[in-house]
Amino acid sequence: MELPPPLRQAVDRALSGRKPADLAAAAAALSRRYREERRDGRLHVESAEDALAYLAVRLPATYAAARASFAAIKQARADFAPRTVLDFGGGPGTALWAAADCWPDLADALLIEASPAFRKCGAELARETSLPRVTWRIADVAADAIACAPRDLVTLAYTLNELAAEARQPLLQRLWQATADTLVIIEPGTPAGRQRIVAARGWLIDAGAHVVAPCPHAQACPLQAPDWCHFAERVARSRMHRLAKEADLAWEDEKFSYVAVSRQPVSIATARVIARPRKGSGRVTLKLCRPDGSAGDQLLSRRDGAAFKRAWRSDWGSAL
Ligand SMILES: C[S@@+](CC[C@H](N)C(=O)[O-])C[C@H]1O[C@@H](n2cnc3c(N)ncnc32)[C@H](O)[C@@H]1O
Repeated sequence: MELPPPLRQAVDRALSGRKPADLAAAAAALSRRYREERRDGRLHVESAEDALAYLAVRLPATYAAARASFAAIKQARADFAPRTVLDFGGGPGTALWAAADCWPDLADALLIEASPAFRKCGAELARETSLPRVTWRIADVAADAIACAPRDLVTLAYTLNELAAEARQPLLQRLWQATADTLVIIEPGTPAGRQRIVAARGWLIDAGAHVVAPCPHAQACPLQAPDWCHFAERVARSRMHRLAKEADLAWEDEKFSYVAVSRQPVSIATARVIARPRKGSGRVTLKLCRPDGSAGDQLLSRRDGAAFKRAWRSDWGSAL
């Protein structure tokens, strides 16, 4: 997945004139903090350099995860056309850019973010673009009351993992209260990230939410450890991205886990492909999560006609 051209240009503008070695050092420190899921009372992004490193090496990936999650919602709910969005832990506005790309009717955005450096950087990216009207609020989502009318779309992308475990459920409660229609939570596609999504999903279902994606059911997740449900998006790396990561490849795979729930009942009759399809000559094996709450492999061959063709064209994350 590529960033949309206005975002790509805004990121390139922000990074222009920066020394790749400086970005690489800041990016390495940032990656270490994310990998360790360090919670030491500091924000991971505190300085302008941290924010630029994030733009260079993380934003393309978190954009891709958010955009893919939103595409799955759009496929399940063609009638959903959010006008207002509330993004908790908005960082540089990544999820807003992805939402605006998915739903062009989006008109008004409220971003809650703890890091002034991120806010400044995000406001700079949004300057002179056709993004919806954006209001930034500096607040601690774990502690501060967030007073605002419920919004059509509420997002929490790659932020749950930065909060102390005891802060997560009270936050979910506030997120759900702030949701007029659809709430999306995205986490890294690690077993720990998936665990947080499973816990949030369970809590939201108990609170009356309807699952939109990726699960085609509201039953317990059928995958048992060491297996875990996650998805992957291939992300194009810009030259600066490669230099900042000291990487050679022109792409990387971003693994992510997510759940989208709605206040509206959703009827989902299609299975979800939950691993990369394994394709051979005239055959394809899909790992599916099914509407009856089960998960497992399904082998299709040319004899299956149209079903085989659909399966052949499907990808990891597709709804069949
Ligand atoms: C990994 S970044 C994700 C940013 C953005 N959502 C994205 O997907 O690119 C996590 C964000 O959550 C913010 N954050 C962490 N703890 C927070 C808190 N207690 N209150 C508000 N924002 C917080 C961080 O400053 C950071 O912007």
